[in-house]
Amino acid sequence: MNRPLLSIEDLRVTFDTNEGGLTVVDGVSLSVNAGEILAVVGESGCGKSVTALSVLQLAGTNSRVSGGSINFEGVDLTKLPADQIRQYRGKKISYIFQEPMTSLNPVLTIGEQIMEPLMLHEGLSRKAALKEAVRLLEMVNMPSPDVRVREYPHQLSGGMRQRVMIAIALSCKPALLIADEPTTALDVTVQAQILDLMENLQKELQMAIILITHDMGVVAEFAHRVAVMYAGKVVEVAPADAIFSQPGHPYTQALMRSIPAMDSDVERLPTLAGTVPSPAAMPAGCRFFDRCDFGIAECQKTDPPMFGTGHEHTVACIRAEHVQCHFQRTQEKA
Ligand SMILES: Nc1ncnc2c1ncn2[C@@H]1O[C@H](COP(=O)(O)OP(=O)(O)O)[C@@H](O)[C@H]1O
Ligand SMILES: [Mg+2]
Repeated sequence: MNRPLLSIEDLRVTFDTNEGGLTVVDGVSLSVNAGEILAVVGESGCGKSVTALSVLQLAGTNSRVSGGSINFEGVDLTKLPADQIRQYRGKKISYIFQEPMTSLNPVLTIGEQIMEPLMLHEGLSRKAALKEAVRLLEMVNMPSPDVRVREYPHQLSGGMRQRVMIAIALSCKPALLIADEPTTALDVTVQAQILDLMENLQKELQMAIILITHDMGVVAEFAHRVAVMYAGKVVEVAPADAIFSQPGHPYTQALMRSIPAMDSDVERLPTLAGTVPSPAAMPAGCRFFDRCDFGIAECQKTDPPMFGTGHEHTVACIRAEHVQCHFQRTQEKA
């Protein structure tokens, strides 16, 4: 058995707000193996970012881990004091945010920003760090890297800024890269280039990637394994091919129907009526019940547990087998 590199177990994350505690991540379990690309999918507001940010204690000062653990190389990251978690950030675990402009410092050259973690974590001299910065820019296919290294973020296009973010993220050769909708802010051709780049670098550096996306097309192309989140919970985990050939959760099927219609601005699924319930008013039982075509009375009574429906394939739906059969019948007809 491959021991997971990162293993999130029964994680709960609660925000303290004026209206009281809001638990937006509610019992999430996920793992990623060394060198594996795990996609995490689901509509806006499902808790993808909060789950991922919690790995590095970046979910914000009003957030707290109210249950569970996040284990990385034998250490529970949720238990680490601030000075120790900082040792992981950008070194063993890197994070790429959705919006490259806001994550780069406007008053520093991109060279300075790539050099900083190299000097801090790797102990490189300024001269060596500058040389390495140029090499990293080359690696992410930045045109004229020796010129660009002296430029400021506003002088670069969105795609180039995201390449810089990737260069920074990879500078210390992390074991795990968390990429949170890394291409959503970019146009479609640039998206494809950035994703290809990430895939090539992942192979070259043998790092694991958690790729957060709402785009099932991206999942089909890049992911080894997929976790589907809905309303603060994981509802299905499976190898990527099984997610597409035998989706067991009605929500996963709805996500798949949305592939051609999905674009970067979509906040809701065009093929699925209704919205994700709010964390302040979570229904009892299955949280997807209101939007589900397969629901029966029992679904509203208890929270469906995850159970196996195939090789490394788990689904949190008491109707999963029926749902899979239905899917196969509609595929045969099509
Ligand atoms: N700082 C915060 N305070 C209160 N609620 C928050 C905060 N950040 C996120 N949330 C809520 O947590 C839920 C999950 O958000 P998020 O993880 O960003 O979703 P996703 O990344 O799947 O779109 C949402 O309901 C969001 O409104
Ligand atoms: Mg998000």
